[in-house]
Amino acid sequence: MGLILAVVNQKGGVGKTTTSVNLAAFLAIRGKRVILLDLDPQANASSGLGIDKKKEDNKNTYSLLIDKTSLKDCLQPTSVRNLQVCAGTIDLAGAEIELAPLDQREHCLKNALKGFTDPYDYLIIDCPPSLGLLTLNALSAAQALLIPIQAEYYALEGVTQLMETYHTVKQTINPELEIFGVVLTMFDGRTQLANQVEQDVRSYFGEKTFKTVIPRNVRLSEAPSYGQPISVYDRRSKGAEAYLKLSREVLKRTKQWKEQLS
Ligand SMILES: Nc1ncnc2c1ncn2[C@@H]1O[C@H](COP(=O)(O)OP(=O)(O)OP(=O)(O)O)[C@@H](O)[C@H]1O
Ligand SMILES: [Mg+2]
Repeated sequence: MGLILAVVNQKGGVGKTTTSVNLAAFLAIRGKRVILLDLDPQANASSGLGIDKKKEDNKNTYSLLIDKTSLKDCLQPTSVRNLQVCAGTIDLAGAEIELAPLDQREHCLKNALKGFTDPYDYLIIDCPPSLGLLTLNALSAAQALLIPIQAEYYALEGVTQLMETYHTVKQTINPELEIFGVVLTMFDGRTQLANQVEQDVRSYFGEKTFKTVIPRNVRLSEAPSYGQPISVYDRRSKGAEAYLKLSREVLKRTKQWKEQLS
């Protein structure tokens, strides 16, 4: 069975989608079978991979959660071999409300994934910037969290709330949930603030913090408008180098993770 990772931080704009897309792309390039599931009504991960939102007939994460369409029927290929997407859609904004009255409302995603038997190595869930029902569904379905933290003021304040939710989820809907790793994003090493935040994050999360730090890099912010991951848009950029390095760390950690489980 593959590893299900939820990329989560309820703070907006911290690099969840950029990390989901580019990590997924580099893992796929390295031969892993990767599925990126876009759980955000903004659907940035989908458009960032060149998925055309206007193609109404394509099934998406809404179909998966609400219409009970099988994951297999919701997947679309991308320009990257080995990388498939379950696209996001603005309809997911309504899904929060539609899920609310349901029995097992936190487990809809988990249940939807149960019937999926195709082999894969990673299923990466790009979460919306909230701790609402959609994110809870990701926390229930995932084995582990990947938390991007932007090196800026108040970074750790939001993280405290996220950790409270994590502990509640562990005590209730998903006792198995672990923290896979924490990655610093949009890092500008020239500022004292960024370095201070890095120190704080490393002392709070210890070994869980990835060695790789993602720098602020304009190429990373340009790539989505071309519908391309950084591996395609500008493989030589600092941003690409950083996500390639992160993918290596993720592979290594996955191996350790599996050894621990077995
Ligand atoms: N390392 C980086 N360097 C420069 N720009 C970046 C970097 N990472 C992300 N960005 C830009 O910052 C903005 C926010 O990033 P992103 O969309 O990945 O965050 P998010 O956490 O997914 O946001 P949301 O909470 O809205 O889903 C985007 O415009 C993105 O292109
Ligand atoms: Mg996002």
